Amino acid sequence: INKIAVLTSGGDAPGMNAAIRAVVRACTYYRVDCIGVYRGYQGLIEGDFKELSARHVSNIINKGGTILKSARSQDFRTEEGREKAYKNLKKAGVGALVIIGGDGTFTGGLKFIQEYNFPIIGIPGTIDNDIYGTDRTIGYDTALNTVVEVIDKIRDTASSHNRLFFIEVMGRDAGFIALNTGIGAGAEEILIPEKDLGLDRLVDSLKTSKEKGKTSSIVVVSEGDKIGKNVFELGDHIKEIFPDYDIRVSVLGHMQRGGAPSCSDRVLASRLGVAAVEHLLDRSSGVMVGVTNNQVTTVGLNKAIKMNNDIDKELLKVAEITSV
Ligand code: F6P
Repeated sequence: INKIAVLTSGGDAPGMNAAIRAVVRACTYYRVDCIGVYRGYQGLIEGDFKELSARHVSNIINKGGTILKSARSQDFRTEEGREKAYKNLKKAGVGALVIIGGDGTFTGGLKFIQEYNFPIIGIPGTIDNDIYGTDRTIGYDTALNTVVEVIDKIRDTASSHNRLFFIEVMGRDAGFIALNTGIGAGAEEILIPEKDLGLDRLVDSLKTSKEKGKTSSIVVVSEGDKIGKNVFELGDHIKEIFPDYDIRVSVLGHMQRGGAPSCSDRVLASRLGVAAVEHLLDRSSGVMVGVTNNQVTTVGLNKAIKMNNDIDKELLKVAEITSV
């Protein structure tokens, strides 16, 4: 392999730039050329490439987003799209590809390997932490810290006005962001898709809090939770049951994906970027590099997307006990 390409795809995540930087610098270190592909798989199809040297990635380790831009390419879902991508890679003399993203990214990568036997290594980059085979995904730690900082601020105003706040956080179908920020920000209740609390229990819990003299409350709701149709309807429903409650709903949205990456995400991204290049040079393909028990590990891309990360039962217990 003389030339490695790197791309970021799907939802961006803080730390993706640190991963790009590590891939580029590992290529320089091992004397392999590196090219960046813009806008994920869409850029592969359109041949939107740029040669990247070690100096091109100066001063990006601290930046949120991705300098290579990201996209959710519909064209790459088609055979014609993937054929164009393959031809462009061949024309540019690229021998292997590093894909940074989440399950959609890895699904596309797997298909490409099956069709063209093209060497690919995945790096998990998503705030959702919903990828099997790594203790953490790049961006998750930063998102947790961002969310906790915001909930702390909402708590100030909630307590000043004796209000009940429903705060919706991201995570797609996974409740990791909700559960961990709920504990970290001291939420009254945490609603996650993995564990159906049920409306009745939520109502009971809010009644009990009232009886105990709690004057304000924070309920963290994962966007994938199914307890209400959406968080606003949930707020309306609770208002009907507790007409004297002053209720507000806050959807945190895309601010959760932005900002400078935490040190932990920068280190994780740097480790995985280097490991991805080393694995490609060792002729490995079809795997994702991750960190398990603080060791760099690999897992098949098919497993990374198909298997679920279990929610930690101990965390559920801690959430329950610390909100009495
Ligand atoms: O996968 C990251 C994520 O931010 C999810 O938490 C969220 O459901 C989704 O992406 C939002 O996607 P978009 O940016 O396309 O609205």
